[in-house]
Amino acid sequence: MPATIISGVAIAKTIREELAADVATLSSRHGLVPGLVTILVGEDPASQSYVAAKNKTAHAMGIHSEQITLPAETSEAELLRIVETCNRNPAVHGILVQLPLPRHINEAKVLFAIDPAKDVDGFHPVNAGKMMLGERCFLPCTPHGILELLQRSGVETSGAEVVVVGRSNIVGKPIANLMLQKRPGGNATVTVCHTRTRDMTAHTRRADILIVAAGVARMIKADQIKEGAVIIDVGVNRIGQTAAGKAILAGDVDFDDVVQKAGAITPVPGGVGPMTITMLMKNTLQAARQAAGID
Ligand code: GUN
Repeated sequence: MPATIISGVAIAKTIREELAADVATLSSRHGLVPGLVTILVGEDPASQSYVAAKNKTAHAMGIHSEQITLPAETSEAELLRIVETCNRNPAVHGILVQLPLPRHINEAKVLFAIDPAKDVDGFHPVNAGKMMLGERCFLPCTPHGILELLQRSGVETSGAEVVVVGRSNIVGKPIANLMLQKRPGGNATVTVCHTRTRDMTAHTRRADILIVAAGVARMIKADQIKEGAVIIDVGVNRIGQTAAGKAILAGDVDFDDVVQKAGAITPVPGGVGPMTITMLMKNTLQAARQAAGID
């Protein structure tokens, strides 16, 4: 029997409706409109489309969203000045600097400059540290979205063998950490594979839940997974374009190969991607509430 398709589009839609209702209540009861600023430096097409999707979703939910678009030559000092201006602006509750940044800009320095109370990406060390300790904080959006996908699809994580492929600061490290925490949605036994792992397949074949965030198109094949496993594909790889110039996307998992063997799988597109954006909205709402002392 082919795998159940875990639709991020459908689950994200449900959560967005819940959040939009909360945004409307915040506005009618407290006169407060959550405000998000997205900052895009340079002209990377993937980043342009991600940031556009974030702003569009925010508008659709009643969140005030503003995009600051800067040329690739923008200096680090100029970017830091802009972040500082957003930090001081009380109408801005969330700040998102789209990654990757041009090579001449120190990414860590920029992320560390964001006020942790406005760090809706959850990338600031204060939030990353709190996450590791299991304290309340802004969770990074993609791992947070994966937790929601698993929970709302009824996937049991307690005692499960979870294998993560990829050790990025944005996905691999935080999702591994979240899944081993001692609370619902966690309590898993977690293994992280990376480019120096000796026998990756030996690990992936053991996984009850396999989370792949490696950035390599269709790298995971059916013979590398366990029968019935839950497969979360975080990869978004541009493998070509249509005659109309639209990007053709593929995940890190060979969907057509794996779908007959897996128990459940997220598609690309339409799996993790919509959840990432939705969790950004959730964090922005949380930031606005906290700023106003309504919590
Ligand atoms: N680049 C890829 N994923 C992300 C993300 O979640 N946030 C930001 N700011 N940049 C990204």
